[in-house]
Amino acid sequence: MGRYVIAVLPGDGIGPEVTAEAVRVLEAVGRRFGHTFEFHEALIGGAAIEATGSPLPPETLDRCRRSDAILLGAVGGPRWDDPTAPVRPEQGLLDLRKGLGLFANLRPVRAFPALVDATPLKRHVIQGVDLLFVRELTGGLYFGPRREAGPDGEEAYDTMHYTRPEIERVVRLAAGLARARRKKLTSVDKANVLAASRLWRRVTEAVVRREFPDVALEHVLVDAFAMHLIRRPAAFDVVVTENMFGDILTDEAAVLAGSMGMLPSASLGETPPGLFEPVHGSAPDIAGRNLANPIGAILSAALLLRHGLGLEAEAAAVERAVEAALADGYRTRDIADGEGPIVGTREMGEAIRQRI
Ligand code: IPM
Ligand code: MN
Repeated sequence: MGRYVIAVLPGDGIGPEVTAEAVRVLEAVGRRFGHTFEFHEALIGGAAIEATGSPLPPETLDRCRRSDAILLGAVGGPRWDDPTAPVRPEQGLLDLRKGLGLFANLRPVRAFPALVDATPLKRHVIQGVDLLFVRELTGGLYFGPRREAGPDGEEAYDTMHYTRPEIERVVRLAAGLARARRKKLTSVDKANVLAASRLWRRVTEAVVRREFPDVALEHVLVDAFAMHLIRRPAAFDVVVTENMFGDILTDEAAVLAGSMGMLPSASLGETPPGLFEPVHGSAPDIAGRNLANPIGAILSAALLLRHGLGLEAEAAAVERAVEAALADGYRTRDIADGEGPIVGTREMGEAIRQRI
């Protein structure tokens, strides 16, 4: 039976509430499967700025490096939104991703049978949706050469920059995941306009042809893909794309799962530790009121078990518990369908824990 060290970075807004539920779920998994999890909390984002002046204090990065996996809540909030501020909470998260070499961000999107009516889309469109986004996470527009506007406010730029090895490693990871699923890989780019996308397409084609001849590859332009994603989402399996495109498309994809509050993510590099966090942000408007949906964080704990620690049976037990709680009618406010009673963050966490 395993003994694992987990760094817990609650962050801002609803981050601490949802992370607490995910930690309790991991404790329940530990009891059921005989593992010991040792949790170490550390500061990130706005909370870290308040306490230390930095959104990613060196002790936090150090703590993460000495852990088997990292569980994160969310960063950011109106308190730190001043565009002229010298430090921003989001920078802490970006530095953590870059500092740990977490180049691939896995964002699975499934339509839960119990929630098909919680989405604004038609039932026949949602049914059967089982997507896995692989967003490149340490390159592209987020990390290319940039210039902040000076005091004159006349000019600023960001650059979508990619190298062949950066594309190869994320495509290889995505194609490997596709091979273990329905063997279909969709690469999303803007190759009709952007040079970085033309390189992306060429490298993707070469990697998949050479190393994954059994995986069917298609290229789709990002604008068209944004439309296909809501018209025929069940047609896709694994989707690999550039950092910024992936950021935008996965918020859109959250609609398919019923709510942003449902989506988990796993950020992986060549070696552990991986970083596991819900896709939703800090939602300051509902923070501290027991209203947030903890399922994104709890499913992130499932990804932590699967991809971070290699504990597949444990991960599946958490996912089944989430499905069971939903099937039994538990709903937080964001996924309410007017039928069962609406529960809070803690009650949803508890309902899931009982079903593990
Ligand atoms: C996400 C978030 C982050 C991103 C922010 C908070 C830096 O939106 O994880 O999708 O843009 O990557
Ligand atoms: Mn985002």
